[in-house]
Amino acid sequence: MKTFTTQSMQEIFSWLHAQKSAHISFEVLNPDLVQNAYAGKLFTCKEKEYIYRGYKAWSDLAEILFCKMLTPRIASECTVIISYEKLNLEQTFHKKEPSNKEEKYGTDSEFFKIYKHEEPAFLHPYLQALDAVKIRNKKRILNLGINRGDEFEIILHHIGEEAFLEKEFIGIDYSKSAIESAKKRFDSFHVSLHVKDINTLDELELKRSDLIISIGTLQSPSINFKPFFMHLVQNYLRKDAAIILGFPNSRWIDGEMIYGAKAPNYSYSEQSLLYNDVIFCKKYLQQHKFRVTLTGKQYLFLTATKINL
Ligand SMILES: C[S@@+](CC[C@H](N)C(=O)[O-])C[C@H]1O[C@@H](n2cnc3c(N)ncnc32)[C@H](O)[C@@H]1O
Repeated sequence: MKTFTTQSMQEIFSWLHAQKSAHISFEVLNPDLVQNAYAGKLFTCKEKEYIYRGYKAWSDLAEILFCKMLTPRIASECTVIISYEKLNLEQTFHKKEPSNKEEKYGTDSEFFKIYKHEEPAFLHPYLQALDAVKIRNKKRILNLGINRGDEFEIILHHIGEEAFLEKEFIGIDYSKSAIESAKKRFDSFHVSLHVKDINTLDELELKRSDLIISIGTLQSPSINFKPFFMHLVQNYLRKDAAIILGFPNSRWIDGEMIYGAKAPNYSYSEQSLLYNDVIFCKKYLQQHKFRVTLTGKQYLFLTATKINL
């Protein structure tokens, strides 16, 4: 078993990069022995020196190496065994281009196995955004790229059934199977769901809404993001309306949400396109008298509320 005592993180990196096996284990100082310390602190246990790092550092390292971290095991009075399992990089919906593009995110897709509201890194900033737009005061809520309706379900649990019933919800998605699944879920609520390409949204002749939510959808290659976004702001919002946009800054691989958006032509995470789109929306909304905040990490949330002059 490889043991790391006072080796630097850079040395550990080199060793890990050289490992070819799908399962990697190594022994390090038990982080629970050290209190109030940052990574890098020297700590002596049983007359032996170690460099301290917390579990967050070991878990971050697993993510950086595209690995899953397994439950650490106690090895001695001073040490634990950290184990990583390499992710199958092919096990991801990002790579799969089905013959029917409308069903890329449908009930039979890899994407449908994801319940992102079970990831705190998604749930927390989304709930914050709902509070920031004062969800309880919004009557009519439009969601573009609703899929099976997880974002509405979170609202339902957040505000309770009684308040949810007082509102009108509209969901749009071009995946027929996802919309059918959402319909079953919201059978007894005021939720109207449409199988529709967002590019032809105008054909539905929808009334303006108090809140527009769109998560992981508007940057899709099928949508001309900037013109569509401007059209949305001009034609789909009521006077005091708000917007919540979620921009994924992560990829879903083999059961894990891995930090960092992927851009075409880069083998690693490159985020220029993401920030370009986010800043475009922020500036455009500010010009139209919205107060805009950006929160989140693996999902960036742009939340815009009208400034009442
Ligand atoms: C990445 S998924 C996000 C779904 C959901 N908002 C979430 O975050 O779990 C994108 C969704 O937008 C839908 N979508 C993508 N392009 C679309 C378009 N042009 N018209 C309608 N729906 C579209 C897909 O079918 C899919 O359900």
